[in-house]
Order: sequence, then structure tokens, then C-alpha cells
Amino acid sequence: MTSNPFAGTAPQIAPSILSADFGRLADEIADVDRGGADFLHLDVMDGHFVPNISFGPAVTAAARKATNAFLDVHLMISEPVHYAPVFVKAGADGLTFHVEVVTDVAATAQELRKLGVKRVGITLNPATKIETVWPAMDHVDYVLIMSVVPGFSGQKFMPEVLPKVEAVKKRLRPNQRLEIDGGIKPDNIRQAKDAGVDWFVVASAIFDQPDRAKAITRLRASLE
Ligand code: DX5
Ligand code: ZN
Repeated sequence: MTSNPFAGTAPQIAPSILSADFGRLADEIADVDRGGADFLHLDVMDGHFVPNISFGPAVTAAARKATNAFLDVHLMISEPVHYAPVFVKAGADGLTFHVEVVTDVAATAQELRKLGVKRVGITLNPATKIETVWPAMDHVDYVLIMSVVPGFSGQKFMPEVLPKVEAVKKRLRPNQRLEIDGGIKPDNIRQAKDAGVDWFVVASAIFDQPDRAKAITRLRASLE
């Protein structure tokens, strides 16, 4: 599957491989590709910004080999600018950094673009105020709002972040997209869509299900 999540305005479902079986990663990716995924979300964690270590450029490159889908790389790391080039080289299409780790969000977004990042995203934690992203709004392609404290899949959705979704939606240009990540399930995906979300990252509610196609279909049906 080749995908460009910026091409239209239809809601996009992005499986996060954090809950996949890493020993069978290519098969797992093929499974969600066939099952109707719109693009893939890759959670990179450094054990410093978040209390977990996941994977880095090598696994990103393996995912790149396994699919033509858009690869959205979520950097939960302390030094996004330093590591951006290796993720670009590994095949990332989108790279999103956390506001909590940088001092100048606009400068960081511009720097990432200079380093060859095709689509630049900005991400904020549930406890971080939405005002922190405004200075970067002219320099990013997407905004990722965390609806769990990052670090692990399988956590409970935090509906208290939805006012931030509404605030971003009001300021989004037609070529920008709004993504949510954490605890998305069939019973809350509609609520997130109604608040203004375009892209839905889902790990456990897809990969923990025996039939991934069915899980994706159920999520999509819940958006109606
Ligand atoms: C959390 C990650 C998420 C996570 C989502 O730190 O950024 O992408 O994989 O997992 P679920 O959908 O299970 O909450
Ligand atoms: Zn993520």
C-alpha cells in the first residue's frame, strides 16, 4: 500500500507497531496493510524522555522494507534534532517531536525540515498546555495530541485532552492535520473525531486483537 495521509480529509487509522509481535514484524505490518490501515505509526522511545525503550532506526528501516505506507515516526526522545537524520535515512515520511524537550518549537520545526524531514509534526503530553504549540503552527504539517502519558501502549484514554483538540482544530490550515494517540478504542474514537481529530493512532485495540482487519473495520465503523 502506498499512502499519503495528507491527500484527502477522510479520517485515517494508523496502527502503532508498539503492540505488534516484533519477532514477526514484517508479517504484522503486512497484516494491518491488508486489513485496511491508512498509514503506520512508529513509537521511538529513548528511556530518558519516557520510562521505556522501544526501538530506533534499524526497526524503522525494517518497517520501511515491509511496506510502502506512509511512516509516521513519533520521537519520544530527548534529542529529536540530533537523531532526525538517521530516521530520515531509515525511511521516515513524517517525524514528530515533543514540545517538552525543546526550548524553541518554531526553530526546531524549521531545523527538522532543513534536515530533510518531509512532514514535520509537533506533539504534546496530556499535562502540557496547548499554548506551547502556537509558535510552531506556521512550520508544522501536523499536530499530535497525546491522550495518554507516553511510554506504553494499552493505557486508558484521557478525555480531558479533548479541549486541546478543539483549540488546535480552530487554527489548522487546510493542508495541516490533527492526530491523537493513546487509548483509542471503538467506544471513544467518535468522541475524538467530533472534537476535530483527523488521524487516529491505535496500538492495542488493533494488535491485541486476533483479527486485525476486523479491528480496523470496527474502528472505522465507529466513526460513522
Ligand atoms: C504511547 C505511544 C502510543 C501507543 C498507543 O506512548 O505513543 O502510540 O502505542 O497505544 P494504545 O493505542 O494501546 O494506547
Ligand atoms: Zn505514538
